[in-house]
Amino acid sequence: MIFDTHAHYDDPVYDKDREELFRTMRSEGVGIITDIGADIESTKRAIELSESYDFIYAVAGVHPSEVYSLEEADMEFLRRATESPKVVAIGEIGLDYHYEDTVREVQKKWFIRQLELAKETKLPVVIHSRDAAQDTLDIMKAEHAQESGGVIHCFSYGWDMAKIYLDMGFYLGIGGVVTFKNAKKLKEVVQKAPMERLVLETDAPYLAPEPYRGKRNASHYLKYVAEEIAALRNMTPEEVILVTEENGKRMYGIA
Ligand code: NI
Repeated sequence: MIFDTHAHYDDPVYDKDREELFRTMRSEGVGIITDIGADIESTKRAIELSESYDFIYAVAGVHPSEVYSLEEADMEFLRRATESPKVVAIGEIGLDYHYEDTVREVQKKWFIRQLELAKETKLPVVIHSRDAAQDTLDIMKAEHAQESGGVIHCFSYGWDMAKIYLDMGFYLGIGGVVTFKNAKKLKEVVQKAPMERLVLETDAPYLAPEPYRGKRNASHYLKYVAEEIAALRNMTPEEVILVTEENGKRMYGIA
């Protein structure tokens, strides 16, 4: 069954038809979904979803673009959130230098605090890194993030950086972008990485694969991502779905 290791179904864009969409996904081969917190409120909603649906697990954390209003008390909230049996990781956390109003020092501070929280709670991490390759790596090395393990979500760097993260024991999250014609770097990474370190992810509602590029994403569209990975690796899509499901369960510690 398809394991979508990174989605945001707590997003209001699904409020009108979430229930129906989940039914469609289930009938189209989606087995497990991890719903990823982007801020404190979305972490709360992710946990609510995980409590309402057997097949949904939650990840607790604050995205680098959402850290500016954080306070130390929010770390205590996240720590308590991890006591829920359905919370399987800390994320998504990291650095995102894409936007002009970025305050790098503030992002770094809360990235480090949430990496510490992962170590304290012995949970893996879901890393978001955009236009910030070197700083992300420097902090992860300094904080010994390999002791927590986890996934570099929506991996967007080249093979050299992929190799470093693979050597540290991390998984690479592969989503809709791999189906885009111009995604040469990512296709190369998918061909060279060990198959047992790739996981499927939508980042829904974002990054829908071809032929739905630009539309609202959904987990059953991962079959197009599996088809592309299969073509790149000379496997069948069914094999890709099976192996990536096992990888996702191992990574998040889901039995
Ligand atoms: Ni995300």
